[in-house]
Amino acid sequence: MCGIVAYSGYRKATEVLVQGLSRLEYRGYDSSGLCVWDGKQISLRKKVGRIDQLSKLLAAQPVDGAVGISHTRWATHGEPTDANAHPHFDQSGKLALVHNGVIENYQQLKEKLMAEGHEFKSQTDTEVLAHLVGKCYEEQKGAQSPLTAAIKAALVQVTGTYGIAVMHEDHPGVIVGARRGSPLIVGVGKKEYFLASDVTALVAYTHDVIYLNDFDIVEISGAGYHIDSLTQAVNEHHITTVDWDADAASRGAFPHFMLKEIFEQPQSIQNAIRGRLSTEEATAHFGGLNLEPRELRQINRILVTACGTAMHAGMVGEYLIEEHARIPVEVEFASELRYRNSPMDENTAVFVVSQSGETADSLAAMREVKRKGHRALGICNVVGSTIARESDGGIFLHAGPEVGVAATKSFTSQATIFLMLSLYFGRLRHLSPVVGMRILKAIQDLPSKIQEVLDTNEGIRLVAEKYAGAKSMLFLGRQANYPIAMEGALKLKEISYIHAEAYPSAELKHGVIALISPELPTLVICPQDGVYEKNISNIQEVKARKGPVIAVATAGDTHIKKMVDDVIYVPEVDPCVQPILNAIPLQLFAYHIAVKLGCDVDKPRNLAKSVTVE
Ligand code: AGP
Ligand code: GLU
Repeated sequence: MCGIVAYSGYRKATEVLVQGLSRLEYRGYDSSGLCVWDGKQISLRKKVGRIDQLSKLLAAQPVDGAVGISHTRWATHGEPTDANAHPHFDQSGKLALVHNGVIENYQQLKEKLMAEGHEFKSQTDTEVLAHLVGKCYEEQKGAQSPLTAAIKAALVQVTGTYGIAVMHEDHPGVIVGARRGSPLIVGVGKKEYFLASDVTALVAYTHDVIYLNDFDIVEISGAGYHIDSLTQAVNEHHITTVDWDADAASRGAFPHFMLKEIFEQPQSIQNAIRGRLSTEEATAHFGGLNLEPRELRQINRILVTACGTAMHAGMVGEYLIEEHARIPVEVEFASELRYRNSPMDENTAVFVVSQSGETADSLAAMREVKRKGHRALGICNVVGSTIARESDGGIFLHAGPEVGVAATKSFTSQATIFLMLSLYFGRLRHLSPVVGMRILKAIQDLPSKIQEVLDTNEGIRLVAEKYAGAKSMLFLGRQANYPIAMEGALKLKEISYIHAEAYPSAELKHGVIALISPELPTLVICPQDGVYEKNISNIQEVKARKGPVIAVATAGDTHIKKMVDDVIYVPEVDPCVQPILNAIPLQLFAYHIAVKLGCDVDKPRNLAKSVTVE
């Protein structure tokens, strides 16, 4: 996690850095800091808390200069404190470093350095790296680019992951960056160059970026950039022009990014669908899978791996692909898959799902799959992300930047992509054009149906607020609505800190029912589908034990209204899109509860948007 921004150019560095950090704050937000070359020395400002705390400090103690490095932290080693915030200095006090990742052998390195007389001011692994680079710098002073040489010499001694930016008083205009496992990009401007963890930090200044690969090391200054490798590998680098503008990453009139992103879903789904449906052939198609129809027909098993919300989307995909294409699908936590020896043959296709494309566990699972010779396909939102670049092919969400830590629009886009994949795979096999057209039509209508749900936001708010006092909640759903229940529970936990659990509705009676009481509200996803009557029985079981029930039901279902405490209606749609539609009221339900409780919706405690550490 964490966000890095570095700048060398002609502008006021603190402004560029603080603005960049605030765009990256979703990546980590327990403390932040920066170092700027002020013409005489490297000045440090850092502060525990949100970036506005750093801004306050800078207002009281300004620092002027056009070169600097900065960091917003998500602590792994040492509590969030001023001392543990980045940047960290080396022993000489002349070299400053920011770091994203984990130095796994930091303890051994620290002991060695302490034995040599190094003194540490923080508990972080990062400060150890700063000292190690500083020590190597002393040894490399005669080299041609001593700072780069020192970083190379230090990094070969390190195990773990890093994205770093380093500056040294002896080389005032220069910043050196390197990466392994944590993202880092170069922003290319005119007489100004940047480093950042992702493009959102830079779009206000430049749209031209270079995505660095693992083991790349880059030197930037106001005059240009130079990319080298920590290994002998020769990598090609191209400048990519990003199409996100600064507005796309701002809240506009919405009070929170999360609400903005929930309301963007008619558009983000439209973007996921655009150009991918063919009415002539009654199917979907994807440009980037890099597989011939013949190869696709040979796929007889699909493995989906992901974390958190992206995994829930994969579970929706499991139901849809098995239903429409009759291909067995398994969904596995990426954090588990990476350490398992899961049996796979040459006809297994692996899909790695990740909004950010940077999640450490998902990336590691993908690399493990590829190491074993299997084809890995990515379903990502962030173009240029590591998973997108390292996968053998894949599908982009085109959902635009998702800033709210709680994923919303990426989830519905991922689920829609799985629905389109189920249509595509189905049509390559047995699915008739008639059924294909039915599914295709349902997908085309989805954005307007989502808009209809969004139009009922006010009613959902009123229902949600009634339950804001709950200590715990249950979410129930069956079939593809079970992962939707899981996603609803995760949203509530993440942003309101209310405990929530999700179960397939009928699992209730196998233990969970013991929890039912007037204090435990249950939200049941109960559309008029093939298991409607079964869900109704489960609702009766809860009501018989005096448990309050909120139902998400099909518009016009007056029967259910008599049975439950509250109903949230969604329009009647084809069963294949029903689960995706049902996700929307659950997102809004969690959102309104969190707002009512005064929680920080966009930056929930202990979380970060992009989990780039293990
Ligand atoms: C979602 O609300 C969470 N913040 C989290 O579960 C997230 O989905 C997970 O960390 C995976 O992220 P990714 O899609 O960027 O890989
Ligand atoms: N391991 C470092 C720390 O705890 C960096 C964490 C991060 O990526 O923010 O400070």
